[in-house]
Amino acid sequence: MTARTILKMALAKGRLLEPSLALLRTSGAAVAEPATNRKLLVPSSDGSLSVLFVKPADVPVYVESGAADVGITGTDVLRETEADVLEPLALGFGRCRLVVASPTEVPYPALTGGVTPRVATKYPRLTRAFFAETGLGVQVIAVSGSVEVAPLLGLSHWIVDLVDTGRTLRENGLVERAQILDVGAVLVVNRASQKLRLEQHQQLLEQLRVADRSRATPGRRPGVSRP
Ligand code: PRP
Repeated sequence: MTARTILKMALAKGRLLEPSLALLRTSGAAVAEPATNRKLLVPSSDGSLSVLFVKPADVPVYVESGAADVGITGTDVLRETEADVLEPLALGFGRCRLVVASPTEVPYPALTGGVTPRVATKYPRLTRAFFAETGLGVQVIAVSGSVEVAPLLGLSHWIVDLVDTGRTLRENGLVERAQILDVGAVLVVNRASQKLRLEQHQQLLEQLRVADRSRATPGRRPGVSRP
């Protein structure tokens, strides 16, 4: 029998943070938001978890290395990093899609005059893979944020970015041209940690599964099983 240690969970700052904290609250392992707590490792209310808040792209890195035992991340970041982690649970939030978009007046899938399209993105690997598969020769420009502004300033012709409501594209005069990936939040788990602390992982997984279901079905309380 292995010693019982508190599992470390990496949470992504940004759009997944609020629903991730809500999920933990529902599961009975509430965690104070980082804004109200400057500590780097925050214990959950039930003492089962120690939570660290990191940049979205870093969650798979922390979990793959074992610095964190588990994490909640988006499949966009996960596929981009190709992290070798377990994915035992798809969560019912963070749904959006990774798309190619361009200004209305910039054509797709080819530019006039045979110009090689420049594509700005935070997802260079997924972007290269998509265009390699579709047979379109492009130059990928990796940026770390505010991707929508790239075509407006002439940095790129097209962009590859996440779309949720479509508001950011609209407000920047961009239109969606092709979908690359359906995106959603997932629980990721370090392989070695899962073997060493199987019981704790199973317990956490079950707690989160029940909490996620109850949140997806308003009125349903955790612990109440489905038919
Ligand atoms: C994402 C994405 C877009 C926006 C799309 O950014 O990069 O900017 O959301 O959402 P919408 O279709 O509802 O307008 P996010 O908020 O994750 O922050 P980021 O710019 O730091 O990536």
